[in-house]
Amino acid sequence: MKTLVIAVHPNMEGSLVNKTWMNRLQDEEDVTVHDLYAAYPDGKIDVEREQKLLLAHDRIVFQFPLYWYSSPALLKEWQDVVLTYGWAYGSEGTKLHGKELLLAISTGGPEDAYQAGGYNQFSLNELLKPFQATANLTGMRYLPVFKAQGVRLLNEEEVKASAEALVIHIKKAY
Ligand SMILES: Cc1cc2nc3c(=O)[nH]c(=O)nc-3n(C[C@H](O)[C@H](O)[C@H](O)COP(=O)(O)O)c2cc1C
Repeated sequence: MKTLVIAVHPNMEGSLVNKTWMNRLQDEEDVTVHDLYAAYPDGKIDVEREQKLLLAHDRIVFQFPLYWYSSPALLKEWQDVVLTYGWAYGSEGTKLHGKELLLAISTGGPEDAYQAGGYNQFSLNELLKPFQATANLTGMRYLPVFKAQGVRLLNEEEVKASAEALVIHIKKAY
């Protein structure tokens, strides 16, 4: 099982959680870590390179901080240009069939803010439905989301512990 982690943070240097996760995942065998903003500082994505990377892995992880209830912008651009008709979807677009998609997300808001009647009104799983729909359309199995919430309150030890929990989560058989 080969895992590709697409780590997406516009300011990875200034990040605590996502940088710690990314650095920890780099130590794992059979895990390729792909820092998307570092790869494309000009925002111009090499579609062929990205599609080759996808083909070479079985489990795809999108790792990002929640920005405006979704991903940072470059991951949306990545989806728009990489997941093309006839490749990722459409009657001939079967290249991702049988692969798995897993999201690893940090949020500033705490877990209890993400529920009906709560501060953000909707659960995180509800807000992430477009990713689930994308997995469905491209024939990928959508795996349980890894969530670290209320991350501003976490100390360094707790962030390190979340990185260990993430490793277990992404290596598990589902
Ligand atoms: C532009 C922007 C938008 C954000 N939007 C949200 C949001 O919609 N919900 C939320 O809970 N936190 C939001 N946050 C907080 C980030 O999710 C939080 O700072 C991040 O998960 C921390 O991870 P890091 O240490 O890797 O940067 C936002 C932060 C920024 C800068």
